Amino acid sequence: MIIVSSEEIISQKILPYDLYDEKGTKILDAGEILTPGKILLVRNHEVLYRKEEKNDNKKEEAKIIKKYSKNNYIENQEEIKKYGPLNKKSKIDFQTQIELKSNYINAMSVFNQSDVMRAKSMILEIRDKIIKDSQLIRKNVQFFSELKLLGEHKNIHPLNTAIFSVFLANKLEYNEVQIMEIALGALLHDIGKIELHGEVSDISKMTKDEEIAYRKHPLAGHRLIKTELKLSENIARVALQHHEKMDGTGWPYGISSTMISEYAQIIAVCNHFDNMTSSATNLEISNFREALRALLKAGSKTFSPKPLYAFVHMLSYGDTTSFEELKF
Ligand SMILES: [Fe+2]
Repeated sequence: MIIVSSEEIISQKILPYDLYDEKGTKILDAGEILTPGKILLVRNHEVLYRKEEKNDNKKEEAKIIKKYSKNNYIENQEEIKKYGPLNKKSKIDFQTQIELKSNYINAMSVFNQSDVMRAKSMILEIRDKIIKDSQLIRKNVQFFSELKLLGEHKNIHPLNTAIFSVFLANKLEYNEVQIMEIALGALLHDIGKIELHGEVSDISKMTKDEEIAYRKHPLAGHRLIKTELKLSENIARVALQHHEKMDGTGWPYGISSTMISEYAQIIAVCNHFDNMTSSATNLEISNFREALRALLKAGSKTFSPKPLYAFVHMLSYGDTTSFEELKF
């Protein structure tokens, strides 16, 4: 057996060898994605080992990485069951899709366990990954369907909203610091739903009491972002205002126009678009072009014209990919 340092493991995204503890018990399998939860597990052990292999380790590592590369991915049913299906049309590679989804689920679970600062650092890592990856793929993306992550709405909606928002903020020429704030605001815009306890159904099917509780999530989100996560008012205001409308008919306060922050205006567009293109809503929309059409129909009464029209122009209007098509 060869001793392995925990630093060596943490520096890798995919474990290239089986990992054993001091008693020789296997604790992780080769090929596992090193999620924050697994890194915590590794850190609990003082000494870690791997088996000495006759084969060239580099070859083994290359074989595992190849398994996760876009063109050679072999569907791992366990991961799909856990994190939702992969979007095979996405420009975001499979490994990144799995990492973003698993890291977000882990971050929320840590947040629920009241380890708020750990959750915050995990969310910041997700934000940085989204920004970095969007820079890498920006020139190659033609359709919205090439960006969308698939899975359970509550787990992927904040990620999709953040991905769309980063693309839109770039298109609107916001600077680096602003894009970081917008991405964080998008990732956390629905964090107040944590206080709703239980599944959030379609608003049109809620009882009066459920609806009253639901409509408090922007206020809860604002408070959690400010007092628990200790982030800026700019970011907290996105949570507070993402359901407001330009004509003042939104909620919770019914504010209008420039009273709604620019970040919230951007995220409102992306939030609504992702909601429309997911199974969580009952709207009769079957592809991305129809969703863009519905955004335009809602128009400047609901959304700020600048981000709305930039969003519609950002990627091709000819994206007729159906939502079912993404899961083939
Ligand atoms: Fe919301």
